[in-house]
Amino acid sequence: MIEQTLAIIKPDAMAAGYADAIIKQILNNGFNIIQKEEINLSKEEAEGFYAEHKGRSFFDELVEFMISGPVTVMVLEKDNAILAWRDLMGATDPAQAAEGTIRKLFGASKGNNASHGSDSATSAAREIDYFFPKTCCSH
Ligand code: CMP
Repeated sequence: MIEQTLAIIKPDAMAAGYADAIIKQILNNGFNIIQKEEINLSKEEAEGFYAEHKGRSFFDELVEFMISGPVTVMVLEKDNAILAWRDLMGATDPAQAAEGTIRKLFGASKGNNASHGSDSATSAAREIDYFFPKTCCSH
């Protein structure tokens, strides 16, 4: 089934100049980039985006990291896009991520892990709508 998912190139990968290499991997893996924008998240936007993690020990660190520099937010589309993008990113912790994955190649730690991807169809619809209202399939 053709799906859409939300991808973010996080501040660590942006600052290190990895955005082009990550986008190349996305295209080489057959995704269409439906939307793409470089933005600076406000604290409120970052807190709202990661609201499900509020109360976790790493929440404040996560929000501070996500507002520490520009990010690239994208809507990716392909068959089975949600799982396919999570597979291409690799495990949350780069140390656990498979060889050749984006987090293995470009991430440094659980927090500084280069990229984000929606974890379910429900999250994808919410996250796409968060940055690109009226884009996603569910509207
Ligand atoms: P992401 O896919 O953006 O979704 C939530 C993020 O929380 C996750 O990637 C990690 O970068 C971050 N995260 C999860 N666990 C930790 C942790 N123990 N310490 C710091 N950040 C974390």
